[in-house]
Amino acid sequence: MSDVLYFNGRFTTTDEPVLRVEDRGFLFGDAVYEVFKFLGKRPVFLDGHWRRLANGLKAIEIRNPWTAETFAATMREILERTEFDDGIVYIEVSRGEGERAHFYAEDMTPTAVAFSRRYGFPDAAKKARGIRLIRDEDLRWKHCDVKSVNLLANALSKKKAQRAGADEVLLIDGDIVRECGSSSFFIVKDGRVITHPLDCHILPGVTRDHVIELAGDRVDQREIDVRELDGADEIFITSTTLGVMPVYQIDDGATRPIGPVTLELQRRLDEEERR
Ligand code: PDD
Repeated sequence: MSDVLYFNGRFTTTDEPVLRVEDRGFLFGDAVYEVFKFLGKRPVFLDGHWRRLANGLKAIEIRNPWTAETFAATMREILERTEFDDGIVYIEVSRGEGERAHFYAEDMTPTAVAFSRRYGFPDAAKKARGIRLIRDEDLRWKHCDVKSVNLLANALSKKKAQRAGADEVLLIDGDIVRECGSSSFFIVKDGRVITHPLDCHILPGVTRDHVIELAGDRVDQREIDVRELDGADEIFITSTTLGVMPVYQIDDGATRPIGPVTLELQRRLDEEERR
């Protein structure tokens, strides 16, 4: 299947092998990425994805190949060239290509790629039913706020979830619930909407930001102890591809009905995405 591919300033398709074997993204995972959604050819929350990409590149000292304007123009052109109306765009910027060595040159030219893909977003039935999580130890590095392509720990944990017949993994660090393998995590208790604070232990989710804004003064950003999970009134996760997704079960615990706060936030986020 060939999709529209942007590679270092030009457009081609994903049929073209563009990357060199000594790209540091491949050899060292020395790269950051983004995933945004588009609906009716319109990007959803593009500003938030741009800001996180720019912050991530700055944090690991990779030169940003774009300005806010050239980034928006490039993404617009990808969507114009794309044959379908709804999907996702995957973007990755690596430190670039150079002889394999841990010591990288100061002035490397970054490699920038972006491609569009069709994506099976959850339908109404899935969004009403929700998903099941399993718990696993959080074995990720200590800069989870950087959206780095080093997703080995996430991928291994998510595979465990899949083998256990679950949809997503909840990452636990000691007694603290951090987030999921590829989504942000929320509980609702006595009307409060609770999620991990922004720090090095979680990714600053773009969807998380919007949901926090929608929930307004009901939000508490604080660490959640694993012992709080059983007593939570509602549990949901958020991500670009899932929106607000209810959680009906964790491991083999009691199943819970989808709660009113989750449904309200799900509906309002869907509306905002289409605005
Ligand atoms: N994952 N936490 C982690 C670890 C993630 O990988 C993601 C996103 C999120 C949610 O972030 P956002 O709301 O900005 O999508 C939270 C993307 C979708 C992925 O890796 O494919």
